[in-house]
Amino acid sequence: MDPIKLYWEERAENSNGKLNVTTDDVYFRELEINTLDNFIAQHFANGNKIKILDLGCGDGHMALSIAKRKPNVYIQGFDFATNMIAIANAKLAKLAKLAKLANEHEIKNRIKFKVGNILELSTLLEKHNYYDLIITSRTLINLQNKIDQYETIKNIHTLLNTNGYFIGFENFIENHELLNQVRQTIGLTPIAIRWHNRYFVEQEFIEYTSKLYTEVEIIDFASSYFFATRVIYSLFCKAENKTPDYNHLIHQQSINLPNMGKFCPVRFVVLKK
Ligand SMILES: C[S@@+](CC[C@H](N)C(=O)[O-])C[C@H]1O[C@@H](n2cnc3c(N)ncnc32)[C@H](O)[C@@H]1O
Repeated sequence: MDPIKLYWEERAENSNGKLNVTTDDVYFRELEINTLDNFIAQHFANGNKIKILDLGCGDGHMALSIAKRKPNVYIQGFDFATNMIAIANAKLAKLAKLAKLANEHEIKNRIKFKVGNILELSTLLEKHNYYDLIITSRTLINLQNKIDQYETIKNIHTLLNTNGYFIGFENFIENHELLNQVRQTIGLTPIAIRWHNRYFVEQEFIEYTSKLYTEVEIIDFASSYFFATRVIYSLFCKAENKTPDYNHLIHQQSINLPNMGKFCPVRFVVLKK
């Protein structure tokens, strides 16, 4: 089996349905969801039906959170890890049952999770099926070479409605290096890039995507959060000889900080067709 698929299969199998299944930093996931929620509120304000594709949807937490908040969204999620999709479908079934009991808005018919490799997008999806919004959240960095990453960005473009958006929460090397420079100046060890991730280079990303998309924006949305948790909190942990705890109050509270700087490798990429 592909080692990256195996990694996610095992992580899902051992997760017990916990939110740290796709990253140990669970509050970071909330920050991503809030950012996406605000984006939808700003760009799709008319209340019309919004068709969303979530590529590499993991345990479906982002899709389910958005669908709960916004009754006009319809989401199709794909992930190549069977165990991730099993968790996502179990969460959907639980939520649908609760919604029915409470006589609340039906969620079941608005979300579908399926197993699928995003490198085979053209065979996964029905022909002439277009989306208003296509999301990847730390998924493209799992593709192991530049060609696959940029081919996928091109295929996403084909699947978007005119004026549709590709939204990515994806990592860039420049911010990663800046964060490590700061850490090193205060005696913290550099954070390593995980073996299964391949970060984007900003200039290359802009050059390639600008040829396809009418608007390209790369927004730093979590820099203050990273400065608080990976610099200040890490310094405290070092001084007290403690292992950082992702559930610490500083993680919980720092998602509310206004954004400053470029210290978070994960950036919010907004590409308009
Ligand atoms: C870092 S996790 C992020 C999951 C989710 N998007 C989230 O916000 O938490 C990356 C996910 O992408 C999936 N993935 C990686 N490569 C994939 C591929 N080629 N096709 C489909 N899914 C893939 C993994 O199985 C994993 O669930």
